Amino acid sequence: MNKFLVFFATCLSGLLIGPLSLADRGPLLARQALHHPVISESGMVVSQDMIASRVGAQILAQGGNAIDAAVATGFALAVTLPRAGNLGGGGFMMVHLAESNKTIAIDYREMAPAEAFKDMFLDTEGDVDNLKARFSIFSSGVPGTVAGLVHAQENYGVLSLKRVLEPAIKLARDGFTLSPDLSDSLRSRAERLQRDPSSKKYFYKADGSPYLHRDILVQKDLANTLKRIMTSKGKDFYQGKTANLIVEQMQRSGGLISKQDLANYEVIERTPVCGSFRDHRLCAMPPPSSGGVHLVQMLNILEGSDLKAMGHNSAAYIHHLVESMRRAYADRSLYLGDPDFFPVPVEQLIDKSYAAHLRQQINPKASSRSVNIKPGLRETAQPVEHNEQSESTETTHFSTWDRWGNVVSNTYTLNFSYGSGISVGGAGFLLNNEMDDFSSKPGFPNGYGLVGGIANGIQPGKRPLSSMTPTIVFDPKGEPMLATGTPGGSTIITIVMQILLNVIEFEMTIAEATASPRIHHQWLPDNIYYEPGLSEDSKAILREMGHILNDSTGRLGAAQSIYRNVDGRLHGAADSRRQGAGAVAAENP
Ligand code: DON
Repeated sequence: MNKFLVFFATCLSGLLIGPLSLADRGPLLARQALHHPVISESGMVVSQDMIASRVGAQILAQGGNAIDAAVATGFALAVTLPRAGNLGGGGFMMVHLAESNKTIAIDYREMAPAEAFKDMFLDTEGDVDNLKARFSIFSSGVPGTVAGLVHAQENYGVLSLKRVLEPAIKLARDGFTLSPDLSDSLRSRAERLQRDPSSKKYFYKADGSPYLHRDILVQKDLANTLKRIMTSKGKDFYQGKTANLIVEQMQRSGGLISKQDLANYEVIERTPVCGSFRDHRLCAMPPPSSGGVHLVQMLNILEGSDLKAMGHNSAAYIHHLVESMRRAYADRSLYLGDPDFFPVPVEQLIDKSYAAHLRQQINPKASSRSVNIKPGLRETAQPVEHNEQSESTETTHFSTWDRWGNVVSNTYTLNFSYGSGISVGGAGFLLNNEMDDFSSKPGFPNGYGLVGGIANGIQPGKRPLSSMTPTIVFDPKGEPMLATGTPGGSTIITIVMQILLNVIEFEMTIAEATASPRIHHQWLPDNIYYEPGLSEDSKAILREMGHILNDSTGRLGAAQSIYRNVDGRLHGAADSRRQGAGAVAAENP
């Protein structure tokens, strides 16, 4: 099995929800978990972890709004889902504010340290040193999560920061019962995590053995870090004791993040990338995410075809998806990067007439070959070589919605599962390996097989290009209708698009839209990833059309969505592809 397949098999696997330890998590949850989808009129939280969803729902029930709930959920996930929930990573939060009818994009992506430089991950032969890029002290960008969550809460929340942080502090200080999922995950990553003495101490028993399902995981250092964040309103992380602990960790192994880097970290509010599909408007994350741009671009291409008549997951439908994906990901490789460092041609890429031009290239009867597809705005780009890569990865998405109609769609990450594997000694949290999302060498793929060039090259203070696509969709009247997003590295954008198409074009419920088999294509490598459940007929016809199918694809993503029905009720859909996810309604607000 080639390496890229291993990535999909390991990163994206995870079957139906296993025997969640409901007894440990209270009778309320047992009732909620058994009713799928969860429906509510008073607010909803959907996340990858039931405990964290419950924290968010309780904040809603206490009078908090969607932003308070999102921040509380985000901090709780940093405790209960250490593989992806985080303090040491970064992410993106889309917020729709009901009263002002405004949608904003909060960018709290990691930034490259001031001492980072273009070739920092190249060895003496000029090849990319993947271990250095992914599993070393150099793999981490300056974390943005704490600044991002505090920014959101202070500017758009209604409760105090103390109130939304308290549940996470309590979970870290008093401990929580390990789910089968967390105990399996820690066991499977033992070798890597135990190489770092702090990670070994934080996530394994004193004798090095893994915690088992039903054991209690107490994280004292993390609780203290969270407390300092609470009392300093986040400042401690960037300029106080936590900042010192991060810098000391860097100094122990020659890492680059300095006090100045931490003090200079900036959250940026950006204008979302918005587009339309049929009579629905959607807003998603702009660069430094590639998500919003290519989501809108692909939908623009597809809007010109009668997808409904083709039939869901028919060969004709998948062919059109793939040909639009192929062209969007080709463009991604050349034009996308941090907009503060590279002039990303967003307007051109999401222009409907550019989409029409790309659509004309699609032969409805035959597959094109990726080697023949170049980034499309200019015809000057050279085809790039492609080497396949692998790694197990993890990111996490959560959506929140309150009774006033405020909506949050948030995706954040350490990049790979447990990031670089290195924890900040004394501070209790893992560091990201987001520096691998940069393009270390033109044409050389990162951990997701994605290639890039100058637009996404490493520069001090720059944010690595992301695929994270937190999205909010509006109904024809302009009211928010759907909040969704997913982990899945390069597959994120195509997964989010399929959820949107399932809901808008094929009129599925959000539960159906989430569960339906997904496909993915990313230009390079030139093959279609697909989930079990795709019909043999469709596969045979696709092969006849010239497509190459990847028969070893694992599960694609884990979307956590909230859909507002025409009757105003909220339907929460937790993706069952990975264990432990949960939709929780806010009761009696
Ligand atoms: O920002 C990105 O695009 C990646 N660091 C996301 C990683 C991810 O989704 C891993 N999850 N499976």
